[in-house]
Amino acid sequence: MTFRIAPSILSADFARLGDEVRAVAQAGADLIHFDVMDNHYVPNLTAGPLVCAALRPHVSLPIDVHLMVKPVDRIIPDFARAGANLISFHPEATEHVDRTIGLIHEHGCKAGLVFNPATSLVWLDHTLDKLDLVLLMSVNPGFGGQQFIASALPKIAEVRRRIDKLGRDVWLEVDGGVKAENIAEVAAAGADTFVAGSAIFGSKDYAATIRDMRTRLGMVRRAA
Ligand code: DX5
Ligand code: ZN
Repeated sequence: MTFRIAPSILSADFARLGDEVRAVAQAGADLIHFDVMDNHYVPNLTAGPLVCAALRPHVSLPIDVHLMVKPVDRIIPDFARAGANLISFHPEATEHVDRTIGLIHEHGCKAGLVFNPATSLVWLDHTLDKLDLVLLMSVNPGFGGQQFIASALPKIAEVRRRIDKLGRDVWLEVDGGVKAENIAEVAAAGADTFVAGSAIFGSKDYAATIRDMRTRLGMVRRAA
């Protein structure tokens, strides 16, 4: 099993973002999770393609862009040019989900679909065979440091079943309230990629926190 840890820069020191991404890369991160909020689709405002492009030379890890913006299509080429490797969006934020997935691929990025806690997995019925990533929210999007919503666990298990049935390598990422204390449970449910914002950037020693997460992931046994 390959597990990936994706620190979310939402909880980093925005005045020192370059140093922060270098520090988590050095500490053993697998991806940089870049949260884009527009004060429209979600009630918060973060950073756009300019900041993504500014960070790109500081880190060789893939940049995992999580778009919490509406609409999404216009901004996708900008993020591709800014060096994004994966781009995920919420189905409620676009008029044409299939077209948006195609647009991300045309621009050379991997495509992900994001599910809020109350968003139905029905959206996967006609998309999973084209996706590289399914991102399940275990909090309502907009803020870091929220409590993990337990109803995400059976949903993770359901998506894991669908991915295994399809037999393609689709990453299953979980975002919101993930920390060392619950990462094993989230992995046992079927996730392979873990976003952690406050748990990593809120800790004193990023490397120790990521090591602790990996040790706990190393003990996970998944029900067949
Ligand atoms: C929330 C964002 C998350 C956020 C997670 O809308 O999508 O990526 O940074 O933060 P934590 O890990 O603190 O819950
Ligand atoms: Zn996110």
